Amino acid sequence: MVILQDADHTELFARLSATSLESGAEYLKSARQALGRLLADPAFLDNVRLERIPGGYTRNLIFGDARITVYAIVWAAGSQTSIHDHHCSCCYAMLSGALQESWYDRLDEAHCVKARTFMREAGEIACMLPTGPNLHRMLNTSDEEAISLHIYGYDHRTRASSIDCEYLAKALVEG
Ligand SMILES: [Fe+2]
Repeated sequence: MVILQDADHTELFARLSATSLESGAEYLKSARQALGRLLADPAFLDNVRLERIPGGYTRNLIFGDARITVYAIVWAAGSQTSIHDHHCSCCYAMLSGALQESWYDRLDEAHCVKARTFMREAGEIACMLPTGPNLHRMLNTSDEEAISLHIYGYDHRTRASSIDCEYLAKALVEG
């Protein structure tokens, strides 16, 4: 399925999709290159009507086939995800605004503890494979909208989302 009616970008995503059959490291390298090309072309979403929800985040399908799904996600001020892990690869670029990303260490099948926090500014690219586990949460802590472009290694027609499991954070007990 092609959502973005633009031959150049459709070809870029189709070529990336083909590389998802290669090793994880090779795919992540290709995904970073593709996201870098898109960051250098900020007008590529000009003809796409992005949906917005006050206080929440919205996924806008940009491209999808049997191997990859590309969403432009619009993050309203204050919006956040659950703490979650992925069943597939997850690569993204910050198109505008900034997001806070926190990483968590898994304690058991339902609980985790916060390990590290990063600020992801416009122009940044981050990639991860599903192995790990890789637990994280994305938050828009600013007063401004943020937009990110996510490339997930799954078929959106057969799964509802890239999320595998969700977790609750436990505070570390000192002493
Ligand atoms: Fe995620």
